[in-house]
Amino acid sequence: MSIAMNAALFLHLAAVVVWVGGMVFAQFCLRPTLADVSPQLRLPLVEAAFGRFLNWVGVAVFVILVSGGFLLVAFGGGRAPWPLHLMAALGVVMMLVFGHLRFAVFPRIKRAVQAQKWPDGARAVESMRRLVLVNLVIGFVTIGVAVYSRGF
Ligand code: HEM
Repeated sequence: MSIAMNAALFLHLAAVVVWVGGMVFAQFCLRPTLADVSPQLRLPLVEAAFGRFLNWVGVAVFVILVSGGFLLVAFGGGRAPWPLHLMAALGVVMMLVFGHLRFAVFPRIKRAVQAQKWPDGARAVESMRRLVLVNLVIGFVTIGVAVYSRGF
């Protein structure tokens, strides 16, 4: 692999680590820790933490798209092994889920916190939890597909 491809792969993997690792932390560390905290405290905290995390994911998505697109072209574009195309397709699905979470669900949490409508906020946080879990599962499947692609 050329230096440019190694650099792209490094950026690709660093961004994947930020995104998938952050989702593991949110799902398995932050969420259970806050489970017994009152909604008045929990929801503003979730909003502040995810407000920051979603910005990081936005950057990660951009880096994954650019580096992945570059690598895909370098691996032959349309003639690249099919697992790489599957990775790209799963990556796009993850990005659509992220887009829905970022631009539809998260604003609902923000509005609920501002209006102190705790039951509305709790429902939106539950939607967010489900979407993060979906992306977490697809994320690990995608990593598996990436490893599998090495045999081609
Ligand atoms: C637009 C989306 C994406 C495209 C076009 C893309 C494309 C690529 C390409 C061409 C490679 C190089 C394969 C190789 O070195 O043999 C790669 C590596 C990799 N990608 Fe992606 N990718 C995308 C999204 C993702 C996502 C969302 C994940 C994980 C959640 C991911 C995980 C990986 C991993 C772990 C590798 C390293 C594979 C290895 O070197 O064995 N990719 N990607």
